[in-house]
Amino acid sequence: MSKALSKRFGEESMDRIITWLEMQKISKDVALLDIGTGNGVFLIELAKSGFTNLTGIDNSSTAVELAKAIAEKEEVMSLKLQVADFLHPFPKLSQYDICIDKGTFDAISLSPDHPAEKRSLYQQSLHSVLKEGGMFLITSCNWTKEELVNHFSEGFEMLQELPTPKFQFGGKIGNSVTALVFRRK
Ligand SMILES: C[S@@+](CC[C@H](N)C(=O)[O-])C[C@H]1O[C@@H](n2cnc3c(N)ncnc32)[C@H](O)[C@@H]1O
Repeated sequence: MSKALSKRFGEESMDRIITWLEMQKISKDVALLDIGTGNGVFLIELAKSGFTNLTGIDNSSTAVELAKAIAEKEEVMSLKLQVADFLHPFPKLSQYDICIDKGTFDAISLSPDHPAEKRSLYQQSLHSVLKEGGMFLITSCNWTKEELVNHFSEGFEMLQELPTPKFQFGGKIGNSVTALVFRRK
């Protein structure tokens, strides 16, 4: 990933989602789950923006330990961080008002072994952890809007596409990052 794209996928993506949540006047105490939280920085930014009920899961214990260490350094003590495989969650995850995903569906859906099965498991897990009417905000640098709408056509409806920078190549205009908001039916 180029430096510019990496920044676009990092800070810009977090700002885009946080701005959307604030514009929608989403209550600061909504139960929010970050799927594949990695170093937890997105949750730390959300906590600094005033959100209070934040959970992050990752199937990598190294990532969760790192996220805990960064949160402690940043003096953000309220995060619930746990090691869990989103495709086979144990213990069972509770239900959330909002799920966010930045790059995790990309990683899972491009896995070399059984990617189609994993995409389907992801869709089922997402449906079970989101409350009815809950929102799913996904940022992807691998899938187009049309492809994501197709992946989540069962059980979800797309509410909004968030504007992302466009590029022009060979006379065609495209987006290097796709950011969509879905609602669980
Ligand atoms: C591309 S990274 C994105 C991390 C973070 N969301 C960010 O934006 O920096 C994908 C993350 O998903 C995690 N992951 C992959 N498969 C997972 C699964 N089945 N369950 C939970 N986390 C998973 C990886 O360990 C990794 O931390």
